[in-house]
Amino acid sequence: MSSFVDFQNEIYLQGLAGVVPALPMTAAGLEQRAREVLEPAAFAYVFGSASAERTAHANLAAFEKYRLLPRVWRGATAPGARDLSVEVLGTRLAAPILTAPIGVLGLLHEQGETVVADVTRELGIGMVLSTAASSTIEDAGAAAGDWWYQLYWPNDNELARSFVERAEKAGAKAIVVTADTPSLGWRPRDLALGHLPFLHGKGIANYLSDPVFRAKLAAAPEESEDAMRAAILTWVGTFGNHSLRPADIAKLRDWTELPIAVKGVLHPDDARQVVDAGADAVIVSNHGGRQVDGAVGALDALPTIVATVGDRADVLFDSGIRTGSDVMIALSLGAKAVLYGRPWAYGLGLAGRDGVKHALRCLLADFDAAMGLSGCTAVTELSRTMISSFR
Ligand SMILES: Cc1cc2nc3c(=O)[nH]c(=O)nc-3n(C[C@H](O)[C@H](O)[C@H](O)COP(=O)(O)O)c2cc1C
Repeated sequence: MSSFVDFQNEIYLQGLAGVVPALPMTAAGLEQRAREVLEPAAFAYVFGSASAERTAHANLAAFEKYRLLPRVWRGATAPGARDLSVEVLGTRLAAPILTAPIGVLGLLHEQGETVVADVTRELGIGMVLSTAASSTIEDAGAAAGDWWYQLYWPNDNELARSFVERAEKAGAKAIVVTADTPSLGWRPRDLALGHLPFLHGKGIANYLSDPVFRAKLAAAPEESEDAMRAAILTWVGTFGNHSLRPADIAKLRDWTELPIAVKGVLHPDDARQVVDAGADAVIVSNHGGRQVDGAVGALDALPTIVATVGDRADVLFDSGIRTGSDVMIALSLGAKAVLYGRPWAYGLGLAGRDGVKHALRCLLADFDAAMGLSGCTAVTELSRTMISSFR
């Protein structure tokens, strides 16, 4: 039984002793504090989206089109009445929430990925570990509970295979292949600062520690600055893969027995094609608006994709989750679980482990409270009947 909402009592009791939370209680508050406190380049990297950032706004605006229709007097608020756990792709989670893969956490905290791994393990939720991490797959995996590995499929299949095999060996329970980033979107905030972390050698730990990648290098990157510069240039030539097609899922299937999810799908035809090709799940996402500006808000794409492939694949949702009610709305529209992104990254930058834990506990408590107050004791009770649509 979940008791995420106990966070509320904890805070009010501390209030009696004159102690108020050190960090803001909302996603918007965390973003604002981060804007004030973080290094400008780090804040720009996390906050920034593509071009005019219309899609980043559309992701949040899409939630305005739906309102919940809560039920009352169903006993769902009684202590111990609620069980928010789910099983997705064979992974049991205490709540239908995983941290989204966010690369280069080293910009925000020295032990970024291992901190997130440790906190998600403590809370019983999932973590999706980015290929573009500042820690290695092995270090982050050792600290994690239930985690999935996000693959940026490089343009060298042997390297892709090595990443997948390392992740499986390190304990990943699923592979999430990101389809929307064969190259980076046009991101004015990073461009204005001339800042791409990878070119500074940040976020490439998994490449530098990989035997297949290292075999491409004339000298070990730790040997000299020149060798590191050469390794970074090799990374530049390796990162993007423009040749991928849905049929390549079969290759992934050969390399691993783990479930496969494709992240970054918005068009129902793409969802159909990747599921036809063997994907077990589709993650509806526009990368938080960081890739194609003007793309549809992710929540607006969700119902059609659920209608197209929901009977034969799990559909997950990502891009724009900010509150507990957002989680309820996405699940009511057919998502099995959601990925939570930027707000915990701000928490990480503001207060390390405490900040990640605070941000995640806020979302979990908000979700737990909203579920109970809407008359729901389990996520299986979330369906279209919980929703009033204003479209
Ligand atoms: C700073 C940053 C780095 C990201 N890095 C990755 C990544 O390495 N791999 C990936 O698949 N998605 C990456 N994403 C996208 C997230 O996984 C997720 O789709 C996005 O954050 C969702 O939008 P939201 O945080 O606004 O809800 C990144 C997002 C941000 C903000």
